[in-house]
Amino acid sequence: MFTLDQVVPWGRSFDEYQRMFALSEADLRRRILGCGDGPASFNAEATRRGVRVTSCDPVYQFTPAQLRARIDATRNDVIEQTRRNVHEFVWTAIPSLEALERMRMAAMTEFLGDFPAGKIDARYVEAALPSLPFADRAFDLALCSHLLFLYTVQLGEALHRAAVRELCRVADEVRVFPLLALGGERSPFVAVVAADAQATGMVASIENVPYEFQRGAREMLRLTRAAG
Ligand SMILES: C[S@@+](CC[C@H](N)C(=O)[O-])C[C@H]1O[C@@H](n2cnc3c(N)ncnc32)[C@H](O)[C@@H]1O
Repeated sequence: MFTLDQVVPWGRSFDEYQRMFALSEADLRRRILGCGDGPASFNAEATRRGVRVTSCDPVYQFTPAQLRARIDATRNDVIEQTRRNVHEFVWTAIPSLEALERMRMAAMTEFLGDFPAGKIDARYVEAALPSLPFADRAFDLALCSHLLFLYTVQLGEALHRAAVRELCRVADEVRVFPLLALGGERSPFVAVVAADAQATGMVASIENVPYEFQRGAREMLRLTRAAG
């Protein structure tokens, strides 16, 4: 069973999503799935801008009060861990630990404010990879930030392969960021899932993006359904 005490809620902003996934104005006119969006403010901010985003995550089974309590219980630990590993991050766009905490808390507060209405509108859907409750090709673009590849050891190869197959079933294009596992090495599953996708006729590419916070994490995987 998925329980809240396993979760360390930590969410990024629309601006960070835009840079992590090199989202263009044309991309923002597409039907977007954010898979594993958790308490990110991507959906809330995108919706305000008129972008069509559905987010799915197992944490959406919990109430805003439960999520807020979990955020409050874990934020100091996350900041402390980041302080201990400060050299593993690039402190340019985010200049300090204080700025990081401010940005993340602002994003998560924005998410919490939007969550009740967004749940009613089915913009936040409780679901977990590798099995999503969406029709084939329900989305033009699926984004997966800081879940696949990052948790290489925890999720394992079978889950990665099934998860990427599932994302390719529900969307015509899939982008995953970052490609590095928690230790800072590229995940061995990047090549594995790219080969799987290519075997089903998808086009796979690894592209630089204008975002780097985890040191060396500057690339995304893009999988696109071949035309026809
Ligand atoms: C590190 S957070 C990243 C949140 C957000 N994508 C961001 O970049 O700010 C990872 C998220 O993945 C979610 N998650 C964990 N297992 C999942 C699964 N099997 N399918 C979908 N989401 C999952 C967690 O609940 C959590 O919200």
